[in-house]
Amino acid sequence: MLTKLLTVFLTRRYTLRCERRDRRSPPSKIKGGISPPYGIEGIDTSPLCANVAAPDDFDRDYLKNLIGLPTIFSFQALETATGSFGKEIGRGGFGKVYKGTLMDGTEVAVKCLLNQTGHGQREFCAEIATISSLNHSNLVSLRGVCVEGCHRILVYELMPNGSLDRWLFSSDKQLDWKTRYSIALDTARGLAYLHEESRLGILHLDVKPQNILLDEDFKAKVSDFGMARSLNRDSESSVMTGMRGTPGYMAPEWLLERGITYKTDVFSYGMVLLEIVRGSKNVDHSQDSENWYFPSVAFQKARQGKMDELIQSGLQLKRPQEMDEAHLLIKTALWCIQNNSALRPSMGTVVRFLEGDLEVRDPPLTYMLPFASSTDDETLTDLDCEGGQEFS
Ligand SMILES: Nc1ncnc2c1ncn2[C@@H]1O[C@H](COP(=O)(O)OP(=O)(O)O)[C@@H](O)[C@H]1O
Ligand SMILES: [Mg+2]
Repeated sequence: MLTKLLTVFLTRRYTLRCERRDRRSPPSKIKGGISPPYGIEGIDTSPLCANVAAPDDFDRDYLKNLIGLPTIFSFQALETATGSFGKEIGRGGFGKVYKGTLMDGTEVAVKCLLNQTGHGQREFCAEIATISSLNHSNLVSLRGVCVEGCHRILVYELMPNGSLDRWLFSSDKQLDWKTRYSIALDTARGLAYLHEESRLGILHLDVKPQNILLDEDFKAKVSDFGMARSLNRDSESSVMTGMRGTPGYMAPEWLLERGITYKTDVFSYGMVLLEIVRGSKNVDHSQDSENWYFPSVAFQKARQGKMDELIQSGLQLKRPQEMDEAHLLIKTALWCIQNNSALRPSMGTVVRFLEGDLEVRDPPLTYMLPFASSTDDETLTDLDCEGGQEFS
């Protein structure tokens, strides 16, 4: 009970602090080697992003300089395509998303930013700067943008099966095991590309089921680059302030403002993996004090040799190897959500685990709640003594 109160308090305090910073409206203050999206490789949008009253011309000049220039749509074209924004297919913290059909018959998702000032404006810039420089089959692709008057709109390929949360957390839909496994692998490939193969070296910073989209064949693509940042590869870690992730998926080092690295995304990915296996949310405040935070339960069950109990009940594992795959996902998740980020594997290593190229050793099972900061170093020592595996 005490730990639950402490988490609620810490999460609330963190959110309030971020909100206060947002009100003061500084551009994200970033130390170390991390660049804001508007400072990456010659794309300088800082004047436009910092200046909330930026006029239209910001966007035009800025867009012209983008690598992989996106198509620029008029507002009227998108109004026609969406039937006057008649069919809402999703919404998040920064925008509403509508279904649309372009003149050539292509179906698209049209994301209109709700708040085009301050933080919202920066989200818009981040999203365009990031996604227009990327090209991978496990990342959702940008079809174009609209920057007319007060409108800031992003046009994406339509992902007909929507976001993963709708499939994992709904009682009337259930994904079979094969689909879950391929979604886990697709997502890992998308993130490995972002971290290790993309030219800019990008941190997503908002990995969660709501930002993993599914096409008509349930192929998964990572989406929503509003929080993304480029991390200089030679920098070990960076401290970011004035930024908000999603509680429940944020790594301890970010919650405690100790600096973020690629491993911050790895932590969030591990949390998503647990949810894929279990089919429900990791954080459930309606549960009792023992069970409200599923990762603690997962470590406890693993210590007791009861990993099978972590798999969604009622999920039919048909093929003989499916139980092995479930154990592999759970072990990978437990590596990914280690408090000590050095122990977490890289996303490239995760891909090799899931492709069966690399054996997953048993993860260290000494686990503290993420906010138990003062014990981090002890945890590391314990793990080292136990022969914890260091990944690069
Ligand atoms: N390309 C798309 N195809 C289908 N649904 C989408 C698409 N993009 C977004 N959505 C839906 O809209 C929701 C919010 O979109 P998102 O880009 O995550 O916005 P926000 O930045 O506000 O979180 C998603 O969780 C998803 O359900
Ligand atoms: Mg989102």
